[in-house]
Amino acid sequence: MRRSRIAGTGSALPARRVTNAELAERVDTTHEWIVERTGIEARHIAGDGETTATLATEASQKALAAAGLEADQIGLIVLATATPDQTFPASATRVQAMLGINDCIAFDVQAVCTGFLYALSVADNMVKGGMADHALVIGSETFSRILDWEDRATCVLFGDGAGAVVLSAVEGENQGILATRLHADGRQGDLLYVDGGVSTTGTVGKLRMQGREVFRHAVVNLANVLGETLAAAGLEIGEIDWVVPHQANKRILDATAKKLGLAPEKVIVTVDRHANTSAASVPLALDTAVRDGRIKAGDLLVLEAMGGGFTWGAAVVRY
Ligand code: UT7
Repeated sequence: MRRSRIAGTGSALPARRVTNAELAERVDTTHEWIVERTGIEARHIAGDGETTATLATEASQKALAAAGLEADQIGLIVLATATPDQTFPASATRVQAMLGINDCIAFDVQAVCTGFLYALSVADNMVKGGMADHALVIGSETFSRILDWEDRATCVLFGDGAGAVVLSAVEGENQGILATRLHADGRQGDLLYVDGGVSTTGTVGKLRMQGREVFRHAVVNLANVLGETLAAAGLEIGEIDWVVPHQANKRILDATAKKLGLAPEKVIVTVDRHANTSAASVPLALDTAVRDGRIKAGDLLVLEAMGGGFTWGAAVVRY
């Protein structure tokens, strides 16, 4: 049976790191409040010349090097982002050009914080279906450009960055991506959204969120989709080596782990240093744990995310 497996990972962060103390000079907040309510200590913020596509390209180059592949071996690029460089063309095509690939399939996927799970599932199915032998799946965001820097309830929560994986076709059972499950419920769109858009206001807009409501839904939806995806793969939670979750809030990670009866030390946490990087957060956390030696070949992983839409999803992966 043809499957796709993660052959390499990479990530990229803007040069500028912004601490909670720096934000406290700008809005009415404190380092203590941010750490206690979210677990965030710092985030990276894109400067001039650093964009969703440039960060995505850097992450992709590292993932290609880790996979031992040349860029021209890539047949498919799926880039998850809610903050593209331009309304069109797709940022995936800018990444393609920067990587020096003359011809491949390239498009963006927009599912906000769940974007990487959507992109991974789409790419997995395209690789399985024979559309490409090697694919780049990227989550890249510059949420700093859509934050209301006067709103302390949101501006302290997000950061910029990118993560990428190379998916390669393999033959055989029980390897690579074992199951993916995706969901959306558009009735909840007003709880987390951007108040602008091309076909409505003609502006980019700013992020708006009812944080407490989003939090409540997140724990329930994430626990449900984790259980559903594990069942689809025929696995129990106790068999999982690592959970690589979307990094929105340390308290959401703790509450979800508790609901599932999962040991907290099996959860990869990067929200302290990256904050919420939307579609980039899962591949950024994955690359962090691969490079620091925690995630090893053969480990069983669950990736999961939840975000605006609402959208949510999970994937079970034999790394
Ligand atoms: O990635 C997509 C998914 N997004 C999420 O999962 C985010 C989910 N939500 C959350 O992570 C949390 O709800 C937040 C971190 C956004 C907020 O934490 P909370 O414990 O739910 O706080 P809250 O919104 O209920 O606000 C509590 C208090 C309020 O003051 P009053 O009304 O009690 O006087 C806020 O005004 O904290 C105040 N507050 C702040 N205080 C200091 C809100 N933001 C800040 C701040 N600094 N930055």
